[in-house]
Amino acid sequence: MLSSLRSGVQSLWRSSSRALQTSSSLRHDSLFVHRDTPEDNSNTPFEFSPENKQRIDALLAIYPEGHKRGAMIPLLDLAQRQNGGWLPIAAMHKVAEILNLPRMRVYEVATFYTMFIRRPIGKYHVQICTTTPCWLQGSDAVLQAIKDTTGCEVGGNSPCGKFSLSEVECLGACVNAPMMQINDDYYEDLSVEDTKKIIEQLKRDEKPTPGPRSGRYASEPLGGLTSLTKEPKGPGFGLQDALKA
Ligand code: FES
Repeated sequence: MLSSLRSGVQSLWRSSSRALQTSSSLRHDSLFVHRDTPEDNSNTPFEFSPENKQRIDALLAIYPEGHKRGAMIPLLDLAQRQNGGWLPIAAMHKVAEILNLPRMRVYEVATFYTMFIRRPIGKYHVQICTTTPCWLQGSDAVLQAIKDTTGCEVGGNSPCGKFSLSEVECLGACVNAPMMQINDDYYEDLSVEDTKKIIEQLKRDEKPTPGPRSGRYASEPLGGLTSLTKEPKGPGFGLQDALKA
């Protein structure tokens, strides 16, 4: 009885594990497995600039002894900014050395967060959000406009080398969907025409104005205020008489 129950469980486990193993593999446009390349290998020299060394000292001073590893993300970000927007493995090793950590601890962080780019990218990194609210508001058309105007494919660089394109999950600006992030700026409430204009400006190295393109200042309702339209009542409004002083 017991053996037949065990063989039943084993066959169930085998069939479910087969199903898991045969499911399609998940894919992403970010590189999570390091491959040595001429510009990205352990022997590529990387050293922080004198200005960044000062910033590192200031950052490390924030964290108490024994908890310096808390500075890992700011240090990786500094390294990435210094290195033209992407993070080589030699920079990760430098951060591990500064924080006195095994290199693996740094690899884990750098490959977990999509803000760290593991391949050489262009001057303008375009990140288009295609999560549900942006998708419902037309992010597919915006993505196509970016591809058409830059010549980039998702996960790649433009032929001129100036642009890179990534498709990302929600960037937290759903109320202004569809939106994209270019370097540190958000461009929101986008139409296809807006998107093309922004890319054309960047091609000329002009700085497009960040923010919503719909005329909104931020994320207020498009048709005007629907609440908080009157002067707020003063303190004590609605209080029972018995409770009034
Ligand atoms: Fe695009 Fe949230 S879904 S910003």
